[in-house]
Amino acid sequence: MTNSAFLRVLNGERVNPPPLWIMRQAGRYLPEYRELRTRAKNFLDFCYSPALATEAVLQPLRRFQLDAAILFSDILVVPDALGRKVWFVEGEGPRLEPLIGEEHWRFDEVERAIQRLAPVYEAVGRIKGSLDANTPLIGFCGGPWTVATYMLQGQGGDKERARRVAYERPLDVDRLLDLLAEMSARHLAEQVKAGADCLQIFESWAEGLPPLQFERLIIKPTQKLIQRLRQIGVATPIIGFPRGAGAEISNYAQRTGVTALGIDTSVPKILAPHGMPVQGNLDPLLLVVGGTALESGVRDVLERFSGAPHIFNLGHGITPEASVENVARLVDLVKGRA
Ligand code: CP3
Repeated sequence: MTNSAFLRVLNGERVNPPPLWIMRQAGRYLPEYRELRTRAKNFLDFCYSPALATEAVLQPLRRFQLDAAILFSDILVVPDALGRKVWFVEGEGPRLEPLIGEEHWRFDEVERAIQRLAPVYEAVGRIKGSLDANTPLIGFCGGPWTVATYMLQGQGGDKERARRVAYERPLDVDRLLDLLAEMSARHLAEQVKAGADCLQIFESWAEGLPPLQFERLIIKPTQKLIQRLRQIGVATPIIGFPRGAGAEISNYAQRTGVTALGIDTSVPKILAPHGMPVQGNLDPLLLVVGGTALESGVRDVLERFSGAPHIFNLGHGITPEASVENVARLVDLVKGRA
């Protein structure tokens, strides 16, 4: 693993050209993924099948020269394991029964929930066994607030109900965030035990919070998660990706305990503390558009972040409309072959 450019950058080294992976690199833009996906009756069954999850991880690596693999799973396996049923509506996205009545605010024990996620850890082991020795594997979880938002809303989209409940039921919401921080720390620790080399926290819904709420809902729970993980003895590097954090992004980088900062498409420059690795942030739409727009977008990201240890990535997940040809072109552009 000492040969891995990705892990070297996470260790603070500047590597040129930068290592590259793509958020959601396994997914519906790949015809072979769409075919594989038909073999499970629903998306969570797919996630809980170690054989299918392993194959999904390997698919993009066969096509493109990517410098890291990411576990195939979802951030919503955590509420699912805690006993809040999760399902996916085809073409729309995730659904949960929202936390409204008292009977909804009951969650299973963390130990029990971790046991339910055994197929995920089995998948990590299998994936490690199938990857070549120099390809690091990224494990992940959702940020506590992002996962709580889905639990409070019952679906994606507008986060107004989640934000409102955070004000209205402060004790309940703080307790939920504590539970998610503990559960996520244990979930990540199990992934590392099974073979993950690096971890990413997807805080996809860090946007739109006033400073007091950013502190309470994002900073504090992430600190707890990372402190707990370190206390368990996990020393693995952690990439924090607070999407939409805006002016709070430096605060997040400095105070949560992350090793590296994932930056969304709107971040214009290195806003991490000096020497902290950054990851991002090409507009995913450019993989739909291609052509000279893709070329200048890639060049601009390379230039803007050349002063920091940099991992090339998108500023958010790749979309199903992206073309395989544009992804191949992106890899060539970053690797300097085009
Ligand atoms: O990056 C990878 O290749 C690893 C796999 C991965 C998935 N989801 C697979 C997936 C990862 C890292 C995630 C994280 C995730 N899941 C996030 C955080 C990242 C982000 O995009 O903000 C969030 C918010 C979720 C919740 C979730 N899961 C949503 C909103 C959706 C529906 C959106 C959509 O594109 O349909 C999912 C479903 C999902 N998770 C798919 C995949 C490949 C598509 C469903 C399918 O294939 O049927």
